Amino acid sequence: MRERSVMKLAENVHWVGARDWNRRLFDALIPLPKGTSYNAYLIIGETGKVLIDTVNPGFEKELEEKIRTVTSPEELYYIVMNHAEPDHAGAIPYIMKISPKAKLVTTSRGAKMAQVFYHVPQERIKIIADNETISLGDKTLRFIEAPMLHWPETMFTYIEEDEILFPCDFFGAHLAGGVYSDEVEDLLVHAQRYWGEIMMPFRAMAQKALEKIAGLNIKVIAPSHGPIHRKPELILNAYKRWAAGETRQKVVIAYVSMWNSTDSMVKQMAETLAAEGIELAFHNLAITDIGDLAKDLVDSKAIVLGAPTVLGGAHPLAVYAAYLFKALRPPTKFAVILSSYGWGGGAVKQVQELLSGFKIEVVGALEVNGPPTEENMKQIVDIGKSLVNKIKEGA
Ligand code: FEO
Repeated sequence: MRERSVMKLAENVHWVGARDWNRRLFDALIPLPKGTSYNAYLIIGETGKVLIDTVNPGFEKELEEKIRTVTSPEELYYIVMNHAEPDHAGAIPYIMKISPKAKLVTTSRGAKMAQVFYHVPQERIKIIADNETISLGDKTLRFIEAPMLHWPETMFTYIEEDEILFPCDFFGAHLAGGVYSDEVEDLLVHAQRYWGEIMMPFRAMAQKALEKIAGLNIKVIAPSHGPIHRKPELILNAYKRWAAGETRQKVVIAYVSMWNSTDSMVKQMAETLAAEGIELAFHNLAITDIGDLAKDLVDSKAIVLGAPTVLGGAHPLAVYAAYLFKALRPPTKFAVILSSYGWGGGAVKQVQELLSGFKIEVVGALEVNGPPTEENMKQIVDIGKSLVNKIKEGA
């Protein structure tokens, strides 16, 4: 058996989570180039011992062994379920079995999910209300509901005496390595990517949660994925910007091309925008990392979608990108659609239909037959200049 090590965050507050170095995909959707961690925390109070969140299925034994380096699981009073998604709650049945006295602490919505997903009997669930506290003698746990971040049952836990916030997914990053966020040189890149993938669709709820915790003194933020923030201002300030939908003079170009026609069109657009000082994020959908694309959508003012026609409609990768764009609900204000077809068009119309219902201004669209002509390139330059004006007007 491997010797287990736990990390101390404060007196009687321990990290007992697991690092998943080799995981490469989450939700069968989100790429994890650097793996991830499932952070669980053990709190030893004078009158009670509490586990905050658990780990992904497959890591139950590791969690148990780590708990045992500090205390016996039989002595746990409570298991706090901040969030019911299996990467944090999947080990609940296992832990509740080896902790027969422990009750599951969760919101009323969480209680239902605990029963449906993990078959936790009702008598072993303690439902807590927003802002309710549980005293462990020398430590007080306060529970703060944070619905839709990113599931409806989500809550944060806060230790008043130690001023540590456990916000589960919020403020997280998919990184298996890294202990403290101030030691990870590209932390904000990973945190922005994670925000784009997971939290961006819920910006309004994120703003509400940020307001709710604004009155707390927070020394440490201990999320359930990635490094711990012992200098919380960095991530708090970034979240304030992202939740407010602050954008830069930046354009995402997301495209696919089969025979270089759409490729030439988007490259003409890129050249026009770059010459005007616009920051570009260029994503060839055939090879790009979708998480990187989500990261760039967080702070871009516009998107240029390059969507050729194939099989009687927009290329499936462009359809996927348009669908994902709408689902992620970025703060993007303007769009341009560029397309080329062989003998029958329709991709521009289809992409416009896909974007319908999403508040975005289509500044220009161009669909050409075959490779773009010189005249087409001039049209793209004109559309590009109109887009630059829109971006700079709103700056
Ligand atoms: Fe990390 Fe929503 O689970």
